[in-house]
Amino acid sequence: METIKLQEIFDAKIEKGDTIEPKDWMPENYRKTLIRQISQHAHSEIVGMLPEGNWITRAPSLRRKMVLLAKVQDEGGHGLYLYSAAETMGISRDEMIDQLHSGKAKYSSIFNYPTLSWADIGAIGWLVDGAAIMNQVMLQRTSYGPYARAMVRICKEESFHQRQGYEIMTVLAKGTPEQKELAQDALNRFWWPSLMMLGPTDKESPNTEQSVKWKIKRETNDEVRQKFVDRTVPQADILGLKIPDKDLKWNEAKNGYDFGEANWEEFFNVVKGNGPCNKERLSARVKAHENGAWVREAAAAYAARESKRGNNGN
Ligand code: 3HC
Repeated sequence: METIKLQEIFDAKIEKGDTIEPKDWMPENYRKTLIRQISQHAHSEIVGMLPEGNWITRAPSLRRKMVLLAKVQDEGGHGLYLYSAAETMGISRDEMIDQLHSGKAKYSSIFNYPTLSWADIGAIGWLVDGAAIMNQVMLQRTSYGPYARAMVRICKEESFHQRQGYEIMTVLAKGTPEQKELAQDALNRFWWPSLMMLGPTDKESPNTEQSVKWKIKRETNDEVRQKFVDRTVPQADILGLKIPDKDLKWNEAKNGYDFGEANWEEFFNVVKGNGPCNKERLSARVKAHENGAWVREAAAAYAARESKRGNNGN
């Protein structure tokens, strides 16, 4: 069937809100956009394990350690899930890992900030997972089937991540003045990077317009950001913590908050690799991959032996 006809069938499916499946014909640029976004999403999950992993041995109680361990393990699972979704589009796991390790592929800017205190673990759960949920709930309706389905399970686990983070912040904010100060300091340092992790403004974003047309994105970066602010500010009020934005103000007419402009120069600098922890994160990932080579080799040798056994019928 000629390409024009195939394009018409694809467009009709998108128009109708049907999902595109791996075996369906799709425009090359649609495939490329999804490989880029899903693989970078997967990288973000895996790199995102590092800042939190940094506090597993220093969690203030066994209970906190167990919860944090569970969350970090979840993130690893999300990464594997998303790498598998990206593989359905014809890119191999090795290629994606090479792209990450060579610095060619991006991962979320937010994970290039340091976790300086235990309160940061609360702020990450509350704000970073909270922002991720806004974005990922929207992606449950993305037009690419395997990605949308991966989001359903990931979103269920994200809500646990956000709740445990908010609970940490609640205990600190309602604790001693020093504990409340720790929580406020974490909010001060993670508020703006959490807004920026949702991507550049719609004006600045080169991909959003086309991604909305293809229903890869069902909301724009700014729409997701607005939802995140509107949802999170009342939560900060309950904690008695102050959002570090002098322009934050309720706007009755739009039934939402007006808020200040993020430091987009900082954002693009971090994305370019000049954030506080970019180098450390990447070298940790490369080192972990090298240290794990023997596991991959052993698994491959075992699989080869088993398939040989199968072929010889024994
Ligand atoms: N960090 C690094 N790069 C970013 C970024 C961020 N926070 N936001 C945008 N960028 C990059 C984009 O990748 C794009 O670069 P590229 O074309 O070279 O890939 C460029 O900046 C322009 O941005 P656009 O908004 O035009 O790009 P997108 O249309 O891809 O939108 C996005 C960006 C909203 C992040 C979208 O890619 C997306 O929804 N991704 C899936 C969700 C995701 O990756 N979340 C990351 C966090 S995962 C997480 O938080 C795990 C949780 O468990 C804690």
